[in-house]
Amino acid sequence: MLKIEDLKVHYRGDLGLVKAIEGVSLSLEKGSSLALVGESGSGKTTLGHAVIGLLPHNAVVAGGDILFKGKSILSMKREELRRLRGDRITMIFQEPSAALNPVFKVSSFLRDVLRKGRGSSMSEKEIREEIISLLRKVRIPSPEDVMEKYPHELSGGMKQRVLIAAAIANNPDLIIADEPTSALDVSVQAQILRLLDELRNKMNLSLIFITHNLGVAAQVSDKVAVIYAGKIMEIAPTPTLFESPKHPYTIMLLKSIPSIRKEIKKEGLAAIPGSLPDLVSPPPGCRFHPRCPMAMEICSKEEPAMVEVERDHFVSCHLYTEARGDRS
Ligand SMILES: Nc1ncnc2c1ncn2[C@@H]1O[C@H](COP(=O)(O)OP(=O)(O)O)[C@@H](O)[C@H]1O
Ligand code: SF4
Ligand SMILES: [Mg+2]
Repeated sequence: MLKIEDLKVHYRGDLGLVKAIEGVSLSLEKGSSLALVGESGSGKTTLGHAVIGLLPHNAVVAGGDILFKGKSILSMKREELRRLRGDRITMIFQEPSAALNPVFKVSSFLRDVLRKGRGSSMSEKEIREEIISLLRKVRIPSPEDVMEKYPHELSGGMKQRVLIAAAIANNPDLIIADEPTSALDVSVQAQILRLLDELRNKMNLSLIFITHNLGVAAQVSDKVAVIYAGKIMEIAPTPTLFESPKHPYTIMLLKSIPSIRKEIKKEGLAAIPGSLPDLVSPPPGCRFHPRCPMAMEICSKEEPAMVEVERDHFVSCHLYTEARGDRS
């Protein structure tokens, strides 16, 4: 349903071109979910914005394509993109307060979303019923009361539920959720994750779930793609990624989740040493080599190809390429 082919997105900046996405390929089937995981600054939001046609003005698509049901999103005209966004692909953002206009009640916000997606054919009564039904779907208690409230009268979790209601209002094919739970308390986080998973199953939605937290990714995804400095390092079905991670970066990310294994719990949270490289002049070869404990001579010279190490499990690392023989 969604196919991203060798996508490159750069930003024009004062210091030169920021190479935020550099050759990303991914695909997603109807009804399935992909978690896109990486540290802050690795290009996750850029990728989400590219898919939904919402890149800022200083962004340049320097190569590749994004196909939605076989059609290139990058060559769509403004009107077609607008319909795609309101209708087929929707996005949920990290900060629910910023996505809701404080002067409108929940009912006005959702009415607007429904009208945009379905035109003016619905009567006021039908709209009201649809809003109540949507609020029920996202498990908001007493929807008749909540729809008359302003955003500031709702908790963070409730606001995010309203935004999820908006995201599913017009029966989209794909939802992109960009760190939707990062601003919420842990217990609310778990409820929202369960809700997204439930809706995806019920509505046969596809989901791209963006997060910096592998533990969160595990709860909502069939497949995980690990992104580092604008490149995919490893993609695998979620259980495979957790049971047999191959890329040194993935292994380090897994170690940084304190509760995932007992022995790691004892060691405490292992932060990954170093920081993301400068994306104006990224390191040659493997972009991870300055931080990689396994780095070999070839790693700073040649970029590793993506290798299928087992069925549906892809890794971009010289430990698994032919070039491995040259290691020193
Ligand atoms: N509008 C912009 N102009 C210039 N650089 C940007 C812009 N947005 C993001 N970047 C840069 O692109 C890189 C990827 O950012 P982003 O996609 O937001 O990463 P993530 O969502 O993983 O934190 C970062 O280096 C960031 O500073
Ligand atoms: S290619 Fe080399 S530097 Fe990059 S992750 Fe693999 S071993 Fe580490
Ligand atoms: Mg982001």
